[in-house]
Amino acid sequence: MEREVIARCRSLAACTEEPGYITRTFLSEPMHAVHTILQAWMEQAGMSVWVDAAGNLRGRYAAREADAPCFYIGSHLDTVPHGGAFDGLLGVVMGIALLDLLAGRRLQFHVEVVGFSEEEGVRFGIPFIGSRAFIGDPVCDPRVDAAIRAFGLDPSRIGDARASDNVLGYLEFHIEQGPVLEERGLPVTVVQAIAGQSRSEVLFRGQSNHAGTTPMHLRRDALAGMAEWIGAVEREAGATPGLVATVGRIGVEPGATNVIPGTARASLDVRHAADSARKPAVERLLECGGQIAARRGLGFSCSWQLDQPAVAMDPGLSQMLECAIAAAGYPVHRMMSGAGHDAMIVARRMPAAMLFLRSPGGISHHPDEAVLEGDVTAALSVAIEFLEQLEAHLA
Ligand code: HGY
Ligand code: MN
Ligand code: MN
Repeated sequence: MEREVIARCRSLAACTEEPGYITRTFLSEPMHAVHTILQAWMEQAGMSVWVDAAGNLRGRYAAREADAPCFYIGSHLDTVPHGGAFDGLLGVVMGIALLDLLAGRRLQFHVEVVGFSEEEGVRFGIPFIGSRAFIGDPVCDPRVDAAIRAFGLDPSRIGDARASDNVLGYLEFHIEQGPVLEERGLPVTVVQAIAGQSRSEVLFRGQSNHAGTTPMHLRRDALAGMAEWIGAVEREAGATPGLVATVGRIGVEPGATNVIPGTARASLDVRHAADSARKPAVERLLECGGQIAARRGLGFSCSWQLDQPAVAMDPGLSQMLECAIAAAGYPVHRMMSGAGHDAMIVARRMPAAMLFLRSPGGISHHPDEAVLEGDVTAALSVAIEFLEQLEAHLA
C-alpha cells in the first residue's frame, strides 16, 4: 500500500498549470483532473464523493449507523508554484489508503476525507479558502466567487461546505517540510503546535528616471531602498531566536534595465512559535522599512494579507496519536510546525491533530520533495492503531 501511496502522489504531479513543474493553484483547470482521479480512488475505497461549493473534494466512508459522529482526515490539493508532489496531497491520499486498509469494515463513526481547495494562498494571496469554508468562516472576495463559478460551482452554496456539528475531530498527515526528523532518524512525529504567521506586502515609492543621465546623489531609487531593507530583514530574523522572515516575491516598476525603479513591492512572511515574539518583530521590520525609506526620500506603505496566531493541537487527540505511535512500535516524538497547515484553521472548530512524516533532505516547496516508503508504512500503521483507539474510545 505504501508504494501505491507514493505512486499515486507522483502520478497527480501531471495535473499542473505548468508542464514540467507542479503548479496547481486555487480551482485552476488541472484541479478538475485531480478531483476526477481522487474520486475514483475514494469510490474504490467505499466512499461517497462530492465537491462542495468551496471546491473542497469530500469523500465520506459511512459508519455502521447513519446518526454516528464524524471524524475528518484531510489536507490541501493546491501547491506552491514549482512545488513538490507530496505537500498537501499526501494527507488526502493517505486518508484514502487508510480506509482502503479497512477493507469494507464499517466503524462506529463516519470518516470523511477532505481535499481542501486552497491552503497556500498563491492565486489571490488568500490562504486557507477551503478550510475556512469547512469551519463555517468562508472568505468573502469577488475574485474567489468568480473562480468558484468558473470552476462550475455555486458560491452562494458555500455554507454547505461547513463540517458536521456531530464531530469527533480532525487528523492531518503531512510531510514535515524541514530537517528535524531526518536529523533524528525518526519516521514520524506528533505536531504539538503550529507557528503563527504574518503575511504582508510592502511598497517603496521613489522616482523613476533615466539610468544614464541621473547622478547617484539625485536619485530616489525604490529598488535600492527595498534591497537595503531586505538585508535588514535577514539580519533581524537571524538575531531573533526562533524567528523566520522571508521576502519571497518582489515586483519592480517600470522594470526596464535603463530606468531607475520608481516603485518596488515585496512580500513579507514572518513566523514564530510565540505570537508574543512574532508581533513585535513584524513591527520592528516595518519600522525599519519606514526609516530606510525616509532617509532615502522614498514613500513606504504596507498592506496585510494574514495575521494567523500560533495554534496548539488538541492534547487529547495528540496523546492518542502518541499511544498509537508507541503501539505501532515507533519512537514517540513531538515537535512544532514552522509551516502553516489547514489544521490550524480546522482547530478553531474541532479537536485537531497532525502526524508528520520525515522529509528526506529536509526539502519542500521544491520539485525534490519526497517521502520514504518505510515512513508511509509507519504512518499507516500508526493511523490504523489510532482508528482502533478511537473505535475503542466510543465503544
Ligand atoms: O507556507 C506554509 O507554511 C504552508 O506551506 N502553506
Ligand atoms: Mn505548502
Ligand atoms: Mn502543506
